[in-house]
Amino acid sequence: MHKRPDPWHVPRAALADSILNVISSRVSNVLLLFAPRRRGKTDFLLKDLAPRAKELGRQTIYVDFWKPGIAPINLLIRAIEETCPPSLLTQARNVAASLLTRVSVSGELSTPGAKISAELAPDERPSSDMVPHAYLESLLDALAGSGRPTTLLLDEFQEIARAQDGAAFIAMLRAQLKHHEDRVSTVITGSSMAALRAIFDNRDAPFFRTGTMIEFPDHGADFVRHMGHALTEQTGRKLDEDAADRVFESVGRNPQIFRSAMAVMVMDKSLTLNDSVAIATGRLARDENLDDRWGRLGLLDRCVLTHILQQPEIRPYSGKARAQLAEAAGLGQVSASRVQSSLKRLERNGFVSTWSGGPSVDDPLIRLWAERHK
Ligand SMILES: Nc1ncnc2c1ncn2[C@@H]1O[C@H](COP(=O)(O)OP(=O)(O)OP(=O)(O)O)[C@@H](O)[C@H]1O
Ligand SMILES: [Mg+2]
Repeated sequence: MHKRPDPWHVPRAALADSILNVISSRVSNVLLLFAPRRRGKTDFLLKDLAPRAKELGRQTIYVDFWKPGIAPINLLIRAIEETCPPSLLTQARNVAASLLTRVSVSGELSTPGAKISAELAPDERPSSDMVPHAYLESLLDALAGSGRPTTLLLDEFQEIARAQDGAAFIAMLRAQLKHHEDRVSTVITGSSMAALRAIFDNRDAPFFRTGTMIEFPDHGADFVRHMGHALTEQTGRKLDEDAADRVFESVGRNPQIFRSAMAVMVMDKSLTLNDSVAIATGRLARDENLDDRWGRLGLLDRCVLTHILQQPEIRPYSGKARAQLAEAAGLGQVSASRVQSSLKRLERNGFVSTWSGGPSVDDPLIRLWAERHK
């Protein structure tokens, strides 16, 4: 079934084309697209890159690894099974079964979407993770051997690092991508720099380290124009362009907050843009459980966060900053290591990130929230 285009989606055609050019010119088959949360990475993969890749004859397979409790390898297998023709799946199952078949004892091996029967010697019975590995390898081999080039869109890649067996899966993926570099490419996205660093700094993952970084630029004025146009189409209301530009800046050019505000305006035609942004921000904060998360922060952590927001030019563990923090938190003194622990806690809980080297608050929702709760 053909999906109706989303009238609120602002296309990023140029970015999609430049990524597909890098892939088709064979500069690299591993592309890395990292940006902080809520910047539109997933929307870009699903609504811009995948349709454009398909238009150009590519097979695209999208996987969201943010599914706690499901092994990453099974998520990729399931995505391939949902996308590929049955004949390709049968071929891959047969190859996997024959790879696993040796002799004597019969074993039935379950993969997420299929059962592979095999005859195995007792000492050759595969370990439980060998079966999905063999099946996935066969699937990727079959994809590489099919007439169409394949692009894997691997979203929230950093979650693999948190999963059990994540390292073995990454090693296998790396080998397969190297083996099929002419036929299979991947675009990897992630939103937690700390978790991604854990993957890419791993000495077993040099292949990923040499992947090509793609800059993911913020939306510009075209975003606000597009939203204004869609709003007029849907409701007849007009946005004041200058005021809307200022509001977009004030929410850190965040597409989600602005678009949620548009939804509020569609539902209640009496509300202004500013009111709608306040309502949308409140709702998003509720969805994110920010009240609770904020409440659980210790006093020093909140002071460190406020310091980063208000005086980003002064490193929080410098002597000057620590003197200010001690005063704000009502402590005699604050050691550099205490500030470091506080920063780690803030990063772990999604309040602070280190995208640009030093600690910063990239999520505009948190920025707005912190300002309101000063
Ligand atoms: N190009 C766009 N046009 C219109 N709205 C957009 C666009 N990109 C993102 N948005 C809005 O922002 C929301 C968040 O985008 P998305 O989920 O793609 O961000 P993300 O970077 O993947 O975030 P996360 O890291 O949290 O997964 C979308 O649900 C949509 O409302
Ligand atoms: Mg996403």
